[in-house]
Amino acid sequence: VEEDLRDFELYEDWLDDEPRQRGSGRRLSRRASVAERTTDPDQERSPEGAWIDEFTDAGLISGAIRAIKSGKEAAVYLCRANPDAGPSLLAAKIYHPRRSRGFQNDSMYTHGRVILNGQIRRAVLGRSGYGRQVEAAMWIDREFAHMELLHSAGADVARPIKLGAWGILMHYYGDEDAPAPQLKDVRLEPQAAREVFDRLMANVELMLSNHIVHADLSPYNVLMWEDSPVIIDLPQAVDARTNRNAHMLLERDIDHLCRYFVRHGIDRDPRRLADSLWNRYLFARL
Ligand SMILES: Nc1ncnc2c1ncn2[C@@H]1O[C@H](COP(=O)(O)OP(=O)(O)O)[C@@H](O)[C@H]1O
Ligand SMILES: [Mg+2]
Repeated sequence: VEEDLRDFELYEDWLDDEPRQRGSGRRLSRRASVAERTTDPDQERSPEGAWIDEFTDAGLISGAIRAIKSGKEAAVYLCRANPDAGPSLLAAKIYHPRRSRGFQNDSMYTHGRVILNGQIRRAVLGRSGYGRQVEAAMWIDREFAHMELLHSAGADVARPIKLGAWGILMHYYGDEDAPAPQLKDVRLEPQAAREVFDRLMANVELMLSNHIVHADLSPYNVLMWEDSPVIIDLPQAVDARTNRNAHMLLERDIDHLCRYFVRHGIDRDPRRLADSLWNRYLFARL
């Protein structure tokens, strides 16, 4: 694994870059907040509810309405937004502490990542309790950073609102009764299918031109709202400059999309699409 930590991406850059306000009113750097949340005994005892306080204290939501989905890594809650906050509903994706995907089988995604702080690096590599907590915090930070970057680049990713200690507050796609359906559950007319496919491929290209491969793109992680796709679930996205699996992951993403669209009469060769994008990326033509 040490080999995975050689040169490459200055991973802590974005842990450090943006001071943020915490409920206590103190200003802490992101690195401090990672350390802080991993040593706070309350976090271990009662993550449920604590995340609500964090977002209500920040004046963003007035409370949670219900869980939309609870998986093994994260639960997504529909929240009532604070009336001043713009949209009336928001979604909070809250990770279960110490159970994220980041703890198993993640070397495919973390290749090329560099942790400059020696103490934290050793803890993460050694998989100590502390290391696992740091890893969980990094996983959340990563998802938020990917969402912010891609959203501001104009990609159709869910709009991020606030990074919290336990998860992410973002725009909610759907209405009070139900969240937007996943692409896998939607039947599209032929013309609409072509448009959605082209739009998703344009998103894959835009992400790649920003050096990002989603790495878990599939009809499960695309919501359809108001006839447009919204891409979600980005913690595992990889940096195409540094991760040696990026090309393979790009091809896998495109393959998942192509397989879904076959049923809509769109028959494209995922390998050729991926190779062509990758070559344009390598030769700086994206
Ligand atoms: N912003 C959102 N608006 C509406 N529904 C959402 C939103 N984010 C997630 N969901 C719902 O929650 C589910 C799980 O979210 P996801 O980010 O894919 O996490 P997981 O890692 O559990 O797959 C999604 O399939 C979707 O149904
Ligand atoms: Mg998902």
